[in-house]
Amino acid sequence: MRILFATGNPHKVAEAVQMLSPLGHGVEPLLVDGEAPDFVEPQAEGLEAVAFAKIEQARMMIEGTELEDSAIMVEDSGLFIDSLDGFPGAYSSFVEGTVGLDGILRLLEETDDRGAEYRAVAIVDLDGRTWQSNGVCRGRISEEMLGTGGFGYDPIFIPNEGDGRTCAQMSAEDKSAISHRGQALKGLSEVLSSASR
Ligand code: IMP
Repeated sequence: MRILFATGNPHKVAEAVQMLSPLGHGVEPLLVDGEAPDFVEPQAEGLEAVAFAKIEQARMMIEGTELEDSAIMVEDSGLFIDSLDGFPGAYSSFVEGTVGLDGILRLLEETDDRGAEYRAVAIVDLDGRTWQSNGVCRGRISEEMLGTGGFGYDPIFIPNEGDGRTCAQMSAEDKSAISHRGQALKGLSEVLSSASR
């Protein structure tokens, strides 16, 4: 299946191509007039509501264009920190750009509870039908920023299923094998395969 991924985040596209191409799905970024979509995200709701809002906006953006009948994929994700009651959660992108990773490390200075998880919701929408898959990656927040790979909170997130390195110290393949997005995309590919049988 040819899937247009509606996101302004090139790292997410790269992870989706790496994950879904070997499974037979062609993933390309959705570009409208050469530009990646700039979504208005409802800030107060959960990942799933945000993902469905993105689908609706992407559909409106391509209405009446040659892309109208294409399969559209969106993904919404975030970092949920246990001792901060799930903060930054659905606000992860905003918090990363304001408080930053330094700010998160400072917020956790006084606590020993460094448990956290990445969560992702991925949705494909085609011909009025939607397929959804979720992924969770449990881990902990490191004491300092380590590594230069990945994006976002990767320099401070140590997945439980890894070997003690942060996601930013891992190869893209190693991260995708255990990441929230890797799980969500794998699940999506499975439901898409069974739907097309
Ligand atoms: P979204 O584009 O609204 O889904 O924002 C997701 C935000 O969550 C990103 O901008 C990052 O701050 C954070 N995030 C989600 N997935 C990852 C990941 O795999 N690594 C690091 N940060 C992530």
